[in-house]
Amino acid sequence: MSSSTITFSQVGLVGTGAMGRGIAQIAAQAGSTVCLFDTNPDAAVSAKQQIEQQWRKLADKGRVEPSQVERWSTLLIPVASLDELSACDLVVEAIVERLDVKRELFARLENIVADTAVLVSNTSSLSVTAIGAALKSAHRFAGYHFFNPVPLMKVVEVIGGLKTDAPTCARLAAYAREMGHTPVSAKDTPGFIVNHAGRGYNTEALRILGEGVADFSTIDRILRDQVGFRLGPFELMDLTGLDVSQPVMESIYHQYYEEPRYRPSVIGAQRVAGGVFGRKTGEGFYRYDNGAQQVFEEAPVPRVDNIPPVWVSTRAARRAEIFQLLKELGAKIETGQSPSAEALTLVAPLGFDITTVAVVERLDPARTIGIDMLVEDAATKRRVLATNPATRADYRDAAHALFARDGKAVSVIRDSGGFVTQRVVAAIVNIASDICQQGICTPEDLETAVTLGLGYPMGPLAMGNRWGPANILEVLFNMQTVYGDTRYRPSPWLRRRGAIGLSLMHEEE
Ligand code: NAI
Repeated sequence: MSSSTITFSQVGLVGTGAMGRGIAQIAAQAGSTVCLFDTNPDAAVSAKQQIEQQWRKLADKGRVEPSQVERWSTLLIPVASLDELSACDLVVEAIVERLDVKRELFARLENIVADTAVLVSNTSSLSVTAIGAALKSAHRFAGYHFFNPVPLMKVVEVIGGLKTDAPTCARLAAYAREMGHTPVSAKDTPGFIVNHAGRGYNTEALRILGEGVADFSTIDRILRDQVGFRLGPFELMDLTGLDVSQPVMESIYHQYYEEPRYRPSVIGAQRVAGGVFGRKTGEGFYRYDNGAQQVFEEAPVPRVDNIPPVWVSTRAARRAEIFQLLKELGAKIETGQSPSAEALTLVAPLGFDITTVAVVERLDPARTIGIDMLVEDAATKRRVLATNPATRADYRDAAHALFARDGKAVSVIRDSGGFVTQRVVAAIVNIASDICQQGICTPEDLETAVTLGLGYPMGPLAMGNRWGPANILEVLFNMQTVYGDTRYRPSPWLRRRGAIGLSLMHEEE
């Protein structure tokens, strides 16, 4: 791209740490001249060297021409004082995450650059409005939130504060595209889009762990195999580091005035206090030996000689599918109104726990096992069964052996409203729905931001559509009953769509 057609031809980068370097790299690749400034005198020069090293690696792999690396390098200019940014038409701040320091920096910058220059902050957790509040010209100040590592995470949130004008946001969006990134527009709210939408995954997984429903490696396996997440929540927290994730969880919770949906877990706080952060400290939920993650063996499939006949609850989710599956697994199926005295009774509730279902349906709890059928069996690589406190071990083992007959992985967990997948998927869809309810962004931008920023297998609304807004709503309603806790109350946005049977991408009201 030639600098004559580029939205910002001269860019200032203040703070040349991990984020500043990444942003400088893609800005130079787009053809902008980038002036690098850092209060640490060596940091700007070393940032230039590190970026050049990245480019040389690309050249070694044949991805770019060595001559291109030379041209890009001439665009990176370390500077020794803030005053040298006076000719910049965009200044990006990526310094320490402190409101007072950022405010002071922008107060100085606005007197250095031209009136037409745009000023942005890469803050991930502070209010854009608060950072820009004292500026004389807050209309040209915005949030420009990139993700780490910037060259690979190809999404940027453009955040308009209360006083930011529309042309400023439009120019920033255009420039993001010129840098090869996808811009999404977000209202200035805690966590913006990605860090807000991400609350469902880790937070709910930590609650499940805290309730002793399953151990962390089982929860990871279930979410990878049933939903298709690349990393389980505990692997993800180990990768990011709890020193980073726990403060984000706490900050969003408090900024939303203790909204129960975002309530963090004491497990995370304890681990941070103990310095057990994750990969970076060699131990997180998993231990890491020379970078290799500790492997937990799965519980073996029990050897069972006689599998009792199976009776399926008349209220089971995907009942026809369960019958088909049982047939394929060679089970003896009972079709009577009620189970025989020896039958294994199978229930498949949405949101309710197995104990409640056994009591309500007047089934013998000792022979009652639950199976999670939110996701269709053919779409998963794992089946998840749940016992209740009275389930007999021989019936549990028989169910495990039966459902593993075709070689598919099986996890047996303790009773909880909503199993693992239902809980986590419902939490993700509900929080995403509330982001739409609050008008933080469009549903389309939400889907884009989450798939690019969090690497989910699909956007949260697509996830809700895939397994049915009405089913997700049922999970939430029932979980609210099981837990008597408002954290599972459905967002009105989801309630309306779930109740009326609409796709979650259907926007009109
Ligand atoms: P970092 O610690 O790697 O780099 C910060 C740099 O800013 C350091 O080189 C430091 O010397 C310099 N600095 C500090 N105060 C300064 C000042 N007043 N003027 C000039 N330079 C100053 O931090 P990192 O990770 O690059 O984060 C920077 C910003 O980006 C923070 O606001 C952070 O919240 C945000 N952010 C970080 C992400 C991440 O994953 N690391 C993701 C998205 C946003």
